[in-house]
Amino acid sequence: MTTFLITGGAGFIGSHLTEALAAGGGKVIAYDNLSTGKLKNLKAISKKKNFSFIKADILNEKMLGQAIKRVDTVFHLAAAVGVKYVIDNPFRTVEVNVLGTENVLRLCHRYKKKVILASSSEVYGKNESFPLKEEDDRVLGATNIIRWSYAATKAMDEFMALAYYREKKLPILIIRFFNICGPRQSGRYGMVVPRFIEQALKGKAITIYSDGKQTRSFTYIGDTIKCILALSTIRRAYGKVFNLGSREVVSIKELALKVKEIAGSNSPLVYIPYEKVYGRDFEDMRHRRPDIAKLEKYLGFSPRTRLREIIKSILCENKKL
Ligand SMILES: NC(=O)c1ccc[n+]([C@@H]2O[C@H](COP(=O)([O-])OP(=O)(O)OC[C@H]3O[C@@H](n4cnc5c(N)ncnc54)[C@H](O)[C@@H]3O)[C@@H](O)[C@H]2O)c1
Repeated sequence: MTTFLITGGAGFIGSHLTEALAAGGGKVIAYDNLSTGKLKNLKAISKKKNFSFIKADILNEKMLGQAIKRVDTVFHLAAAVGVKYVIDNPFRTVEVNVLGTENVLRLCHRYKKKVILASSSEVYGKNESFPLKEEDDRVLGATNIIRWSYAATKAMDEFMALAYYREKKLPILIIRFFNICGPRQSGRYGMVVPRFIEQALKGKAITIYSDGKQTRSFTYIGDTIKCILALSTIRRAYGKVFNLGSREVVSIKELALKVKEIAGSNSPLVYIPYEKVYGRDFEDMRHRRPDIAKLEKYLGFSPRTRLREIIKSILCENKKL
């Protein structure tokens, strides 16, 4: 039986991936310190025989090594995530995302395990090319702007992973996620879709940061999991970097209006300057959209779920709670 370790397995993406791997018949271990993740996310599979959970930190080398030793493949998703979380926890962000990832890579090399590394569209920084290709330049923000530290840590993770691949022949695969959304995502750490939905359902003002004309693309979690699983089985994908995102682009104002309409909410839209939310030293990019030609070339498919359906899936979950 194939065995998998998912760091960050109790998180939003990690818990969906854990479920999918367990459903596929593999033996799955979720490894998480429950900092932003929740055990509740794993409730549906908690009693399955091929699933187990380890509550531990990726900075704990001993526990991590023991877990990695037991599996064939590691999906490394544990990280400090979310603009708000990063701004509130600047040191922890660098520590977990750089030192934690180095632990994962070093131990995977020691025990000869494959690694799938979760990276982010943030590595492009302030590059607003439309759409963004994997080989495009990164445009770096100043170091006093804390939000760019996340981008730098994820880029450092990629450099480390590619170095392990080139020098030490460690099979690594890097996937850059572009705004993944769906059920179980928390709005607490700065994610816009769950935040808007919560505000709309509570009849509170939907708070749009800046002028709402900035554009983004949103990717459905179900599509994301299908792509991760398929890529991880393609041998020639190892040693490479892939964008994983959707081609559908909306402005944040359009997103707010869609959420309001689909939720049948009367919430007013309110505009708040970034500095009131994140302080004076904050920057954001106006536009971000992935080029997913490489993903399509390798997989023969790509994320297709429309934003409307994504919003409905999250509303459906909220109604069940
Ligand atoms: N959701 C997105 O749109 C998105 C976009 C780009 C990149 N990513 C990347 O995908 C991965 C998963 O993100 P997510 O959206 O599921 O966020 P999440 O916060 O739900 O998941 C991260 C998980 O890692 C765990 N974790 C954090 N620090 C840890 C540590 N030191 N030791 C052990 N566990 C730890 C958290 O408890 C959480 O369960 C992350 O690496 C993130 O950088 C996500």
